[in-house]
This record gives sequence, C-alpha cells and structure tokens, in this order.
Amino acid sequence: MADIRIQNLHKRFADFVAVRDSSLTLEDGKFVVLLGPSGCGKTTTLRMIAGLEFPNSGSITLDGQDVTYLRPRERDIAMVFQLFALYPHMGVRDNLEFPLRNEGLPRPEIDRRIKEVASILRIEHLLGSRIGGLAGGDRQRVALGRAIVRQPKAFLMDEPLGTLDAEFRELMCVELRKLHERLKTTTVFVTHDQNEAMALADQIVVMNQGEILQADDPEGIYNFPSCLFVASFIGRPPMNFLKVGSGVLPGMTDVPVDGAHVNVPEIDGVAEQAVLGVRPEHVQLVANGNGALAAQVKHVEYFGSHWIAELESAAGTLKAVVDKDLRPADGDRVGLQFNTERIVLFDAKTQALLPSASTRAHQPGMRHG
Ligand SMILES: Nc1ncnc2c1ncn2[C@@H]1O[C@H](COP(=O)(O)OP(=O)(O)OP(=O)(O)O)[C@@H](O)[C@H]1O
Ligand SMILES: [Mg+2]
Repeated sequence: MADIRIQNLHKRFADFVAVRDSSLTLEDGKFVVLLGPSGCGKTTTLRMIAGLEFPNSGSITLDGQDVTYLRPRERDIAMVFQLFALYPHMGVRDNLEFPLRNEGLPRPEIDRRIKEVASILRIEHLLGSRIGGLAGGDRQRVALGRAIVRQPKAFLMDEPLGTLDAEFRELMCVELRKLHERLKTTTVFVTHDQNEAMALADQIVVMNQGEILQADDPEGIYNFPSCLFVASFIGRPPMNFLKVGSGVLPGMTDVPVDGAHVNVPEIDGVAEQAVLGVRPEHVQLVANGNGALAAQVKHVEYFGSHWIAELESAAGTLKAVVDKDLRPADGDRVGLQFNTERIVLFDAKTQALLPSASTRAHQPGMRHG
C-alpha cells in the first residue's frame, strides 16, 4: 500500500514538452485514472512513476520516499502493460509462479500466494490448465493474477483493455473494479476512454497537452468541469454551450441568452464574456413562449429508454435528452428550460469554470470513501 506524490513534474523530449509542471497526489488505496486525448502525456507520466523515464525536473515520492531517479526494480511497483502478456506455452500455475520464482521467494510462500490469488480471481480450477486452451475471460483473469501475485505497492496500467472488444472491455472493467475493492492497492490506470474512466476511478485526472486540467472524483469531473476542455471532453452527447449575451458579475442569478433570461446558480466570479454550459439531460422541452429559450427540433434519435433531440436556437445548436414517452417531431417549435442547479458558467476568455453557488457547494473529493 502506498500513496504517490508527484510534484512539479516536467518532461521534455528535445524541445517538445510532454508533461508540464504536473502536481498530483494519488492517495493510498485509490484507483486513479489518467484520462485525456492521444498525445497528452498520459503514458509519459505513468512511465515516470514506474521509473522507465526520468523527468527533467520535479519529484515523485512513494510512501514518502523520493523515488524520482530510482530504477523500476527499486520501486516495488507493478507495471501491467497489457493484460494479455502471458506465456502461452506454459500452464496457468507456471504463469502465476514465474514472477515469484524470479524474486526468489521460498516455495511455501509461493504456494500460499498462488492459492490466495487463485481464490480471489476464482481460477482455482484452472491452475492445471494450459494457457492456450483458455477462454478470453479466464485468460484475462490469469493475466491479472500475474500482476497481483507479486503484491506490489501499486499497479500501473497503460490502456490494459485497449485491444478488447467493447463488450469484453465492460466485463473486465467490472472485474477490475471488484478486484480493487478487495485488494485496495493504489492503482494508476491510463486510458483515453471516458467510459472506462467513469466505471473504474475513485479519482479521474484529466490531461491535455501535457497539463493536468482537473483531478476530482467522477461526479466532480462530470458536474463541475474545471474548464471548457474538460466540459466538452467528458459526456456523450457532449455538454451544450451557449453564448451569454453580456458580461457576468458576482451576485447575478440569471443571464441573458438569445433574448431569454436563464436562471443560473448565484455567480461568485466576474467575466466580460461568458459561456453557459448545460448537459443534454438537464435541458427540458416546454411549450414555446413564456420567456423560455425558443428553439426548433432539427432531428430526433431513438435510444429505447429515451430520445436525443437536436435543437436549433439563435444562441446555437443544443442536444436534449427527452423522455421516451414524449416523441418530439422534426420541425416542432419548442421552448427550452434548464435545470438551474446543473448549469455551469465559464469565462469565455480564460475558459475556466466560474465559481458559483453550485461550485462552492462542491468539494473536490473522492468516491468510495
Ligand atoms: N521517447 C519520446 N521521444 C520523443 N517524443 C516522445 C517520446 N515519448 C513520447 N513523446 C511525445 O510526447 C507526447 C506525449 O506522449 P504520450 O505517449 O505520453 O501520450 P499519451 O497521452 O500516452 O498518448 P496515447 O493516448 O496516444 O497513448 C506525444 O506527443 C509523443 O509523441
Ligand atoms: Mg499512451
């Protein structure tokens, strides 16, 4: 068990800055997901934690010990590159024993650990089998077993589910999360898939262009994105953005959007120009008029449990999640209302979230205690 502290970590490749002045605390026992688009520096960050790459400046401590320039073997962290990395010509038991024999553990300790891991992963009945004959799910469990049998202080995983098909990936997400609940080993998991991040993480760290933009629990990331990038990166269909018709000032509780006045959580910040953000599930279709934002239905898509309506307003295009029993029709003229507490405002210039009564009430924290 270990907490990992990263301070002002900076990594250049020639002139290119891959990781920029990153600071982050990964609390003991938490499942932390590094999430961001391709090239944003996730793997580079993970490799520095593993000791496979050294930073130009900054530090990494593991349980208070400075490990910044220690080699991987000296850190007691297990890197799981891909969960399929098994030796196919060897049996299940041999695959599990291999890392332990490498460490020179005594036979009784090896037997004890294999027994424990096999029981955790429910693969006792497979210990005598060959890898080659295993079904995908069993294979994946054995691969997980190979990582956990070493009982490292932390797991580092770089897109371990990346090569799996969607259905199997979801299954493995559930397995991984259950395993984590049992073992409570600090885990750093890299992905560019937000669904994976949401399903797995206690804490999500959103990165872009080498920078950490937000570190928060999944609910915090979803409801109070720190900036426009995070707001648009997380959530499908994405958050709606509307231009606010004038500047915003502290104390304001409504803002003008395309002639209508939209109630917002009491604003603490100031911005010359602001962008209003509201997720599709917090947009309601109402009768046109009565001061609601006027819009026209452009397109509807059926999802069984709900509809997604695409709407055109003078303030921009929006999407709304509509109840399955209310089928909106193309061309309908409607009014739009927003769930006030769920509205967020951003400074159009800095792109940062503007503090408001809602954001004040939210303490960046962690799920699962
Ligand atoms: N050894 C290297 N030499 C030069 N540039 C590198 C090296 N490793 C990474 N980079 C660059 O640093 C940036 C960040 O790379 P990194 O692999 O950390 O991104 P990533 O977030 O893991 O992306 P992906 O989702 O595609 O795996 C990229 O632009 C990459 O080209
Ligand atoms: Mg990568």
